[in-house]
Amino acid sequence: MKILIVGSGGREHAIAMAVKKSPKADKIYCAPGNAGIAQIAECVPIGAMEFDKLTAFAIEKAIDLVVIGMDDPLCGGIVDVMEEAHLKVFGPKKAAAILEGSKAFSKDLMKKYNIPTAAYETFTDADAALSYLETAKLPIVLKADGLALGKGVLICNTLEEAKDGVRTIMQDKKFGDAGNTLVIEEFMTGREVSVLTFVDGSHFAVMTSAQDHKRAGDGDTGLNTGGMGTFSPSPFYTKEIDEICRRMIYQPTVDAMRSEGREYKGVIFFGLMLTDDGPKVLEYNARFGDPEAQVVLPRMQTDIIDVFEACIDGTLDRIDLTFEDNAAVCVVLASDGYPVSYEKGYPITGFEHFDNSEYYCYHAGTAEKDGRIVTNGGRVLGITAKGNDLKEARKKAYEATEWIHFENKYMRHDIGKAIDEA
Ligand code: AMP
Ligand code: GLY
Repeated sequence: MKILIVGSGGREHAIAMAVKKSPKADKIYCAPGNAGIAQIAECVPIGAMEFDKLTAFAIEKAIDLVVIGMDDPLCGGIVDVMEEAHLKVFGPKKAAAILEGSKAFSKDLMKKYNIPTAAYETFTDADAALSYLETAKLPIVLKADGLALGKGVLICNTLEEAKDGVRTIMQDKKFGDAGNTLVIEEFMTGREVSVLTFVDGSHFAVMTSAQDHKRAGDGDTGLNTGGMGTFSPSPFYTKEIDEICRRMIYQPTVDAMRSEGREYKGVIFFGLMLTDDGPKVLEYNARFGDPEAQVVLPRMQTDIIDVFEACIDGTLDRIDLTFEDNAAVCVVLASDGYPVSYEKGYPITGFEHFDNSEYYCYHAGTAEKDGRIVTNGGRVLGITAKGNDLKEARKKAYEATEWIHFENKYMRHDIGKAIDEA
């Protein structure tokens, strides 16, 4: 089979590696890809939002399966455009990707179908939002409605902060049109867990759980980022909690989307908070997590192409989705200054140590320049190691971070600290 993967980050590198493991994969293309993906796939310089060019390329190369890694093209309707051209595509159509694309939509859906989530109100008028805040309980959470690179969420501890937040999102439009509508949400406490599921329109299959570290600094300080590291499985996501989630959250979400005429096929990523009142949905994403994919996919035993095809064909109930009985930890190596401003173009060394069976070096922001691999983004590499348990995986992952050298290398030193509390 010929497969085209759309995207350019560590997640797409992890998808490409999983696809490469399948005996069905003869040739892998990636658009636009990065320097690491280029070692196992042919990268083509077409942007993820260039739907017509991507479609023409896929037709020209007789691609058998297209896999969309990123949220922007999904929410923009790439699957609709490609299916129109009779291509086989893994990912939700535009009408379904709205589950991630609009927080107001997803909150309303959860309310309508009794799916546990934080209490909330939606506003399109800044003055109404400001006066609502006067009587709201603190801390309080503000969320820009649309896609904002995971950065459109503000947790406010004081009324002043919250009012500033409303002005920043709705009036100054810091996140652009994503802030035309604002969701103001109750603050929840508990452990966070990311659960990725494959969905075929009516059935779901749960992947192994993971936990992300979203803040830039050690001890969960600093700005929110795309994710600075992950571990899998989460020891806090027990069998009992999984049972509750399947019954109260996963199946109801898949059914709700069908009832709304928005049949969902692809990955639903459930961002959950394990509260004292039970698991609740923090957010939905319409794709694999990044860097969740970098700890989940290397542990997956089932042929990923079989799973992608079953999601498209509506036969996921016939797939036995299994994962290795071990653990993985991913530490992101970033450019110092991420997520605000940072320099790029520094040569990277140390790749030769990674064996792709216990140690993986997933490329995110890298490029090739004059025959060398150089830094080309905020998140540069995801260093993943597998171990028999989480502690061993964490030790190995941190050892492996020392193998890699580049100027301005930055990482968190406490990825997986929560493991010690389990
Ligand atoms: P989201 O993009 O919705 O996942 O939000 C980003 C991060 O903000 C989450 O991973 C949580 O850490 C935090 N967050 C979002 N909503 C809430 C909430 N209602 N209560 C507490 N923390 C939240
Ligand atoms: N790591 C969180 C996300 O992919 O949205």
